[in-house]
Amino acid sequence: MNPLKTNNADGAPSDMQHQTIIEPFRIKVVEPIRMSSESEREAHLQEAFYNPFLLHSSDVIIDLLTDSGTSAMSAEQWAGIMRGDESYAGASSWLRLEKVIQDLTGCPYILPTHQGRAAEHLLYTRLGGEGKVFFSNTLFDTTRANIEYSGATGIDLPIPENADTQSYFPFKGNLDIDRLKTGIAEWGAEKVAAVVLTVTNNSGGGQPVSLANAREVAEVCKQNGIMFLLDACRVAENAYFIQHREKGNEDKSYRDIAREMFALADGAIMSAKKDGLVNMGGFLALRDLELARACRTVLIITEGYSTYGGLSGRDMEAIATGLEEVFDPDYLHYRISSTGYLGRKLTDLGIPLLQPPGGHAVYIDARMLYPHIPVEQYPGQALVCELYRLGGIRSCEIGSVMFGKYAEDGSLIPAQMELVRLAIPRRVYTQSHLDYVIETFGEILERADQVSGYKIDWEPPFLRHFTGRFSPI
Ligand code: F0G
Repeated sequence: MNPLKTNNADGAPSDMQHQTIIEPFRIKVVEPIRMSSESEREAHLQEAFYNPFLLHSSDVIIDLLTDSGTSAMSAEQWAGIMRGDESYAGASSWLRLEKVIQDLTGCPYILPTHQGRAAEHLLYTRLGGEGKVFFSNTLFDTTRANIEYSGATGIDLPIPENADTQSYFPFKGNLDIDRLKTGIAEWGAEKVAAVVLTVTNNSGGGQPVSLANAREVAEVCKQNGIMFLLDACRVAENAYFIQHREKGNEDKSYRDIAREMFALADGAIMSAKKDGLVNMGGFLALRDLELARACRTVLIITEGYSTYGGLSGRDMEAIATGLEEVFDPDYLHYRISSTGYLGRKLTDLGIPLLQPPGGHAVYIDARMLYPHIPVEQYPGQALVCELYRLGGIRSCEIGSVMFGKYAEDGSLIPAQMELVRLAIPRRVYTQSHLDYVIETFGEILERADQVSGYKIDWEPPFLRHFTGRFSPI
């Protein structure tokens, strides 16, 4: 019997032989973390205008800003860095990467890019344009930006369960099929440029999408002659959830589940900075030759020749190996269990979070944690600053700082939710690092009612969360 196959109450697998799930790797290279005092951190916060994006990483103790490009590479990947073939055309590193991606996605045409958004730009400027629409479970910000930049409209159609942060529905990342059908009828199928399924659904809480939902989306697209695309940057983590939560998939390997999902789609975009287990890279995979040719022309003009895109040969070696390692059952079990561990311990403490924990991140509901701070005073920004002040922990506000807009009278139109994301880099932190985060949340809770809100002192016209300046009220 496979000991990993037994599920406990919250759907997470448990090892029947051992209670403790260990990091399935030894550490060969280390990077020092510099400890700091609360008063030092208060000074750093002031210098950074209370915006964690403006902190120096050397002043951060645990960096949970993003899981993107922050993975630790394996010994095999570092060996690949030495083997990288830096030839301009037809490098062996490219041929290897191309084959790995073809085998995984089943798509014949592969275009390498320096990261996910570069692939988005190639494809969505081609498919988009004025009068076109893209439907999605939830578009990631750069995806939406590329779609809107082309003149097209992006519409998110998550299932209703997604809006309830306390619902334990197992596939909260699913796309609402009824709303998709209505949307297609309203716009007319010829106006629909594509349906994009983001797996896992990052902006919707890192929640998984079921195979059944992907099949239904594929079927609706097929019936209407619409292109179906996967935003697949966390497809291995999504496959883990399918194996453990969706009936009929218990005996399939994670890789086969991912391949089954890719097989449903007409193409895929992947930022390799997530489940590719590398620091930089991405690709576009397509089944249609004409579309691939058109995108390849722009690839060569903007990224690089078609056998390297924006990548070095060594990068391509590391991605090829990362895409194989990420489906290792011990790795994925540790990965999802460690995010689940953080989520479960924080829930036990009484920290309100988006349930159940996602694959790559835990999302805290800052409005529930700080009910006394009005949304106009950005409760998420208050939590992000508290986490740094008390523990040197860097996190990311995903609320009205990131998504809030202004009405004509200058009042705030708040985001739907005031979340703070704790994104876990892959293979970087151990359980004791997470225990430290959990301990810090104990202090956060003790001081919760003394925390004040924040105001914006300066903001740029776009993407204010990156460079905006704040101060406590
Ligand atoms: N799609 C999704 C679902 C993503 O999460 C990201 C990046 C991208 C596309 C774009 O990829 O960064 O390689 O250009 N997400 C990062 C994050 C930035 O922190 O969630 P990229």
